[in-house]
Amino acid sequence: MTNSFIDRRTFLKAGAAFAAAPFFPTVALAAPGDTVLHARQGTAKLLGPGNPETAIWGYNGVAGGPLLRFRQGEELRVRLRNGIAQGTSIHWHGIRLPNAMDGVSGLTQSAVPSGGNFDYRFKLRDAGTYWYHSHNRSWEQMARGLYGMLVVEETEPPEADQDLAFVIDDWRLDSERQIDSRSFGAMPDWAHAGRLGNWVTVNGKPGPVFEARAGERLRLRLLNAANARIFNLTFPGLSPWVIALDGQSIEPWQLKSGTLWLAPGQRADLLVDVTGKPDTTVPVRAIFPRQEIDIATIKTAPGAARRRAPLGRPKRLAANPLPGPLSLRQAVVAPLRMEGGAMGGMMGGMMGGRMHGMRGMMAQGKVWAFNGVAGPSDRPLVTVRRGQTVRIDMNNANRWPHAMHLHGAHFRVVRRNGRAIDVSPWRDTELVQADERVSIAFVADAPGKWLFHCHMLEHHAGGMSTWIEVT
Ligand code: C2O
Ligand code: CU
Repeated sequence: MTNSFIDRRTFLKAGAAFAAAPFFPTVALAAPGDTVLHARQGTAKLLGPGNPETAIWGYNGVAGGPLLRFRQGEELRVRLRNGIAQGTSIHWHGIRLPNAMDGVSGLTQSAVPSGGNFDYRFKLRDAGTYWYHSHNRSWEQMARGLYGMLVVEETEPPEADQDLAFVIDDWRLDSERQIDSRSFGAMPDWAHAGRLGNWVTVNGKPGPVFEARAGERLRLRLLNAANARIFNLTFPGLSPWVIALDGQSIEPWQLKSGTLWLAPGQRADLLVDVTGKPDTTVPVRAIFPRQEIDIATIKTAPGAARRRAPLGRPKRLAANPLPGPLSLRQAVVAPLRMEGGAMGGMMGGMMGGRMHGMRGMMAQGKVWAFNGVAGPSDRPLVTVRRGQTVRIDMNNANRWPHAMHLHGAHFRVVRRNGRAIDVSPWRDTELVQADERVSIAFVADAPGKWLFHCHMLEHHAGGMSTWIEVT
């Protein structure tokens, strides 16, 4: 099994010739009654038209998922129907909601059995770009396609001519161009970087072409839905404005020749001024250590330009009513030592309340630990009262980067490698590099059990999972 992109050139021929606006089934705004998300089998043209189809699992059978769109303040009402042969549940990544709606199988609800239903209902208090995905055996269910984007529209959206979802995934396909199911659970993936794919799609398509007019301003909602791959993106010839990260507004900054890192689970909202001439194309490029891949193309129509000069610096989006401010002086502090993985020198750890050596742990698929405990753990990392500020001091004591995700709240990085940080964006997922020490802080606003885990899904399943109890 190789972890590099297989035969990308042959694969891409079909994709590159395929010029069509990416089509996304949209579930209507404020549909009467509940929206149904039916987790089931489907087929997808991951390789583009004229190539074999790939059997996937998807909500309503769609690769990349139906795009859910609501307005800020609306109630989300979704009925999950489980049409797959495993238990499942839906987590609403980045959304503040009542704990019972958080969708974590085994922590906030039991997995919905095959054939069963579950109704999710909660108010969408924050605007922004979010997503939803399976939260049971997610290392398999998400690798097969069970995820989608959730857009909560601002009352005053920024000026843009098009609002485009950009859901990035890397699939691991076998020689039959089917999802490589033989390697599910493979220890080398779990102990290293996680399950890396060999085929990149955007909105379930290889190298889709986004059509625009020259001079248009596009809003791109980027989501990294991959199990484990970190994407490093550039927009050669363009200078997008980054206006939000993980759904939360930031002071707009311009990505000139720089790159944008997107770890699994993270989102970024961009305003892209299509400054090229009519009838030209510009790529959206992903940079990897050994190669670069154009994962999508923006193509301008022939004919007159939409406007002559770009619109200029956008206004900052209104902030969401997140709980705050942080009271760092009174913060409850929870140290979190992150250990394990290949070359990590871990000797063993607690599992199911008992100490095990490394061999015994590996036999259970556990190769990672937080504070010496391989999750899921029946005890919380910390218990706090509602309204308290929590600071988690992460110490990444192993050789691997980790995309740490907190459920139910956004946090700020307040310290990195010993240096205090005064201004940082609100995020729900933060990439912590090998040997880094990163402290995050948030206000515990909602009672319940809130998961905190690595969003590299094999690391999560391999032990990098804990939770915070808010009473
Ligand atoms: Cu996006 Cu616990 O997950
Ligand atoms: Cu990890």
